[in-house]
Amino acid sequence: MPTLILGATSPIARAVADDYARQGHALCLAARDIDEARRIASDLHIRHNIPTHALAFDALDIDDHAGCIDEAEEAIGSIDTALLAFGFMGDQQESQQDFHQARRVIDVNYTGAVSIAEVLARRMSDRGEGTIIGISSVAGERGRASNYFYGSAKGAFTLYLQGLRNRLSKEGVHVLTVKLGFVDTRMTFDMDTTIPIASPDEAGQAIVDAAQKKIDVLYYPRFWRGIMATIKSIPERVFKYLSL
Ligand SMILES: NC(=O)c1ccc[n+]([C@@H]2O[C@H](COP(=O)([O-])OP(=O)(O)OC[C@H]3O[C@@H](n4cnc5c(N)ncnc54)[C@H](OP(=O)(O)O)[C@@H]3O)[C@@H](O)[C@H]2O)c1
Repeated sequence: MPTLILGATSPIARAVADDYARQGHALCLAARDIDEARRIASDLHIRHNIPTHALAFDALDIDDHAGCIDEAEEAIGSIDTALLAFGFMGDQQESQQDFHQARRVIDVNYTGAVSIAEVLARRMSDRGEGTIIGISSVAGERGRASNYFYGSAKGAFTLYLQGLRNRLSKEGVHVLTVKLGFVDTRMTFDMDTTIPIASPDEAGQAIVDAAQKKIDVLYYPRFWRGIMATIKSIPERVFKYLSL
């Protein structure tokens, strides 16, 4: 099955790619860093004897997105499954001082993600099959002082994926929303938390499993569903004084 991994340098994306490679899928690894994408593609090709292709992809280069999918499909065939794993947390303080920083966070996590998802949605809906996996975040479930640019972009992406699923489910295309809690990657490096941090390999396996079972929304780690239900239940008049 031709599978496209966007944001292929993410450890979570790498774990997903590894799982699909083990199952014999042809893989297109798309990333800003084309040299690293080539290294990942060649490693997977050698270890699993599957067709692979490396593709230069920047979420901010919206005008190139249709061309990226053309290149991916020429290389490995019509995309059956696409993982949107790219994301950018940015620095909340810097974003508050400089809207260009905030805009980058919004554009990578929302505008760029929606742009590439729309190209994929059109092609998959024309073929009447396919799966789009969008990695969102529990940060998108409630606005917090410490990360509301990233959180609001992910929250908007979650809503977008919900609407897309609502549209495409009638056209044979499945949309999986992944709401990640803490996973051990660059994004959580140095994070001071008492909440357990999941491994990217386990997150990757859970994502592939959920996509194959056609689950609509995956919280991972799963206990985040309960944490977020509690956080969302706190009244705003109390919540605004908390430092969460
Ligand atoms: N780790 C967590 O706890 C956590 C929690 C919730 C959600 N998430 C989400 O999980 C996904 C994977 O993140 P991660 O944790 O694996 O962090 P990561 O290692 O920082 O991976 C982020 C990925 O996004 C790519 N990226 C950033 N800006 C891009 C752009 N303009 N165009 C294309 N790609 C771009 C990065 O590419 P470069 O290598 O070129 O920078 C990298 O491949 C993201 O969507 C993130 O928001 C993570």
